[in-house]
Amino acid sequence: MSLSSRIGFWGTGNMAKAMIRGLIANEVFSAEQISCISKSGTSSQLFAAETGIRSLKNHTELISECDYLVLAFKPFQLETLKAELKSVTCKTVLSVLAGTKLEKLNHYCPKAQSVIRTMPNTPGRIGEGITAYCSNASLPETEKTELEQILASLGDVVAINEPLMDVFTAVAGSGPAYVFEFIAALAEAGETEGLPPDMALSIAKQTIFGAAALAKGSGEHPEVLRDQVTSKGGTTAAGLDVMAEGKFRQLIHNTVKAAKSRSIEMGK
Ligand SMILES: NC(=O)c1ccc[n+]([C@@H]2O[C@H](COP(=O)([O-])OP(=O)(O)OC[C@H]3O[C@@H](n4cnc5c(N)ncnc54)[C@H](OP(=O)(O)O)[C@@H]3O)[C@@H](O)[C@H]2O)c1
Repeated sequence: MSLSSRIGFWGTGNMAKAMIRGLIANEVFSAEQISCISKSGTSSQLFAAETGIRSLKNHTELISECDYLVLAFKPFQLETLKAELKSVTCKTVLSVLAGTKLEKLNHYCPKAQSVIRTMPNTPGRIGEGITAYCSNASLPETEKTELEQILASLGDVVAINEPLMDVFTAVAGSGPAYVFEFIAALAEAGETEGLPPDMALSIAKQTIFGAAALAKGSGEHPEVLRDQVTSKGGTTAAGLDVMAEGKFRQLIHNTVKAAKSRSIEMGK
């Protein structure tokens, strides 16, 4: 279902582009309903020429015409743009600024009617992300539906309470990096054990992709799927024994814990 409102992007970098591509592809907004600005003006103009969206001159034009305003610059730029943000009166301000709390967003955008904090992740670039969002007040049902439709441009959407944002960041925000590291490790091991390097990498990528697709699509718990690959005394059991001896689960827990602590620290 297309929305009748207008959406503007303050910043036209990687995250804004991923969202805009998803919004157009999913027909949530037509290109004419989407506007953007960038610091240089060049990235917004180039992207507008590529997609048919509108590149505007400045934030004043952007604010005056949007119902939804997406803050898609870097978090440290909040302070630089302090004066400009004071004039934001849009219906909904949607922030993708990593680690930036609602309290801070409300402080910088005091006139916005509602402020939403979101945390997308990088697979959103291909529409396979997962985005968490939270807001100070509970949203009216229509606004919630529209918001989730917008965020679905990046993949799955989950509403959470703000205190859970740190653990979400540690699992889903940083999670793709853990998986990329696992792919690299699997490929490296395959190569060391005799596979040609290119072949080792494509085998590792497809194995993770296939296993993730199966885990998502089958509805079975990953432990059930794991057991389906594992026969007593077989090759998988031999490999899994080594993972258990190396305390693989503890390692992953420590990884998530460290990322969560860092997220808490950075939010202060
Ligand atoms: N990338 C990710 O995977 C990811 C994941 C989660 C959250 N995020 C969040 O998404 C936000 C954007 O990240 P990104 O990777 O898209 O950054 P990026 O590629 O560096 O893009 C930042 C954009 O902001 C624009 N900008 C900077 N100052 C501006 C100003 N004064 N007025 C107008 N536009 C301005 C830049 O303009 P120019 O093009 O002219 O430089 C650029 O288009 C960050 O807050 C980040 O925390 C990103």
